[in-house]
Amino acid sequence: MQLTLQEIKKDPRINSFISQTDKYLRSLSYTDHGKRHLDIVSDRSKKIARELGLSKREQEMAAIAGWCHDMGNFLGRTQHHYWAAMLFSQCFINEADNSDEVSKIIQAIVSHDKDDLSIVDKITACLIIADKSDVHRSRVINKSVKNIQNDIHDRVNYAVTDNNLTVNKKNKTITLALKLDTKFTSIMDYFSIFVGRMNYCQTAAIFLKYEFHLKINNTKLA
Ligand SMILES: [Fe+2]
Ligand SMILES: [Fe+2]
Repeated sequence: MQLTLQEIKKDPRINSFISQTDKYLRSLSYTDHGKRHLDIVSDRSKKIARELGLSKREQEMAAIAGWCHDMGNFLGRTQHHYWAAMLFSQCFINEADNSDEVSKIIQAIVSHDKDDLSIVDKITACLIIADKSDVHRSRVINKSVKNIQNDIHDRVNYAVTDNNLTVNKKNKTITLALKLDTKFTSIMDYFSIFVGRMNYCQTAAIFLKYEFHLKINNTKLA
């Protein structure tokens, strides 16, 4: 079979891993890692791949990696990238008609949360930027005032009311523009938890021979 996002979204095994992950991470009060996050990361990975000029198959592989990248969380948070890659491989290594595609997808999945691995493939770089840029109010599951006040991850996500990622092929820049409601959090709070993610986006962009820029409330910060 040729792997397509449409088929993978219908696959009962993948749907089961995703729903178990959603249930598990909700029990730990994490931000959304369910279908909302996966749709955004899948669409954004594909969009970056398309705007970089990657082939149609590479765009599809980026979309598939985006859809499946977090599905291993129900087996353990700290190694979830490896679990997701292993599950994907078990499902498709014998079914897929192109083993190289499976290899590239599982490498992207493993690398999305593993910044000590070198990036050697553009699909990996697309997924990293798509995943690490998903910060938004709609990602917060527990929107109670008490939780927003006490949980810095939820507070920062809650404060982001707009999120736009653009690729400028001419200037070789990838820009994440956020609108941050400073009633809820400060730009310092944002950096205190997202600096690692922004650095990883920068590393991925450099691999693509682009620069990564961050704008918050129309001010360029990186
Ligand atoms: Fe992840
Ligand atoms: Fe993710």
